[in-house]
Amino acid sequence: MADNISISPILKWVGGKRQLLADIMPLINQNCSTYVEPFVGGGAVFFELQPKKAIINDYNAELINVYEVIRNFPEELISILEEYSKKNTEEFFYKLRALDRNEEYAALSNIKKAARIIYLNKTCYNGLYRVNSAGQFNSPYGKYKNPNIVNAATIRAMSRYLDNPKITIKQGDYREVLKGLRKGAFVYLDPPYMPISSSSSFTGYTENGFSYDQQAELKNECDKLKEKGISFLQSNSDCPEIRELYKEYEIRTVQAKRSINSNANKRGEISEVLIYYVPGKK
Ligand SMILES: C[S@@+](CC[C@H](N)C(=O)[O-])C[C@H]1O[C@@H](n2cnc3c(N)ncnc32)[C@H](O)[C@@H]1O
Repeated sequence: MADNISISPILKWVGGKRQLLADIMPLINQNCSTYVEPFVGGGAVFFELQPKKAIINDYNAELINVYEVIRNFPEELISILEEYSKKNTEEFFYKLRALDRNEEYAALSNIKKAARIIYLNKTCYNGLYRVNSAGQFNSPYGKYKNPNIVNAATIRAMSRYLDNPKITIKQGDYREVLKGLRKGAFVYLDPPYMPISSSSSFTGYTENGFSYDQQAELKNECDKLKEKGISFLQSNSDCPEIRELYKEYEIRTVQAKRSINSNANKRGEISEVLIYYVPGKK
């Protein structure tokens, strides 16, 4: 499908799939009528694939706003990022970070909101998007020497690709996206992972987190896709709960290097699973 130039993700996102692309890509039906990614995050798989017709979605409104602004106002976004790049200091970082802690934030333009998220993502510690229970960005300043804040080439390429009526960008719960799908669609699900131990629990993508009950609900949604004859692929952590939930599905084990962990000593290679269903195969 990808006859466009390559586009790398604009945001570094927890659970980004760039290093698993070699395992994931062969399991995607590239001849599908619509490619659907309900938990798009940084979009590593989506931008690698660049499908002609797609629906992408995420619950995180700040993230979806970034994609909409890139599609609609790339040049305005680039000029604000150029300004932020010149102003980049620890003091400026905390000033910008604090904006979502007061009521004026709602009045900020969508372009400025998107520029803020990109700037904070490029300059914060570990480049990780994290919010507290009130939904406020709370990663500290990263003190990088030359962070690549502007990325004009990526923004322009992404904008050209997204600016197409066949690419639908949505914000909300993944179940809404799955509702109207028809046979021929292909769904790639990359939900917040089931924590492998209580200490590794990361629930900071949105203020809501993702519990075991939500994992079980997601399994029901996968069963509904199967009933409709829609193929899907899901990534998740390799743990007994997930293996038990998906025991009647094909499961492939893959190794991923995960650098973002609440305990820095626990960084390293961990096992993850790819669960998939292809109509007619099982
Ligand atoms: C593992 S990340 C996706 C990583 C992504 N594929 C990448 O390569 O960067 C999971 C995403 O699910 C989103 N999310 C959490 N709960 C959701 C829900 N109920 N519906 C849709 N998206 C949700 C989070 O905001 C987060 O961006």
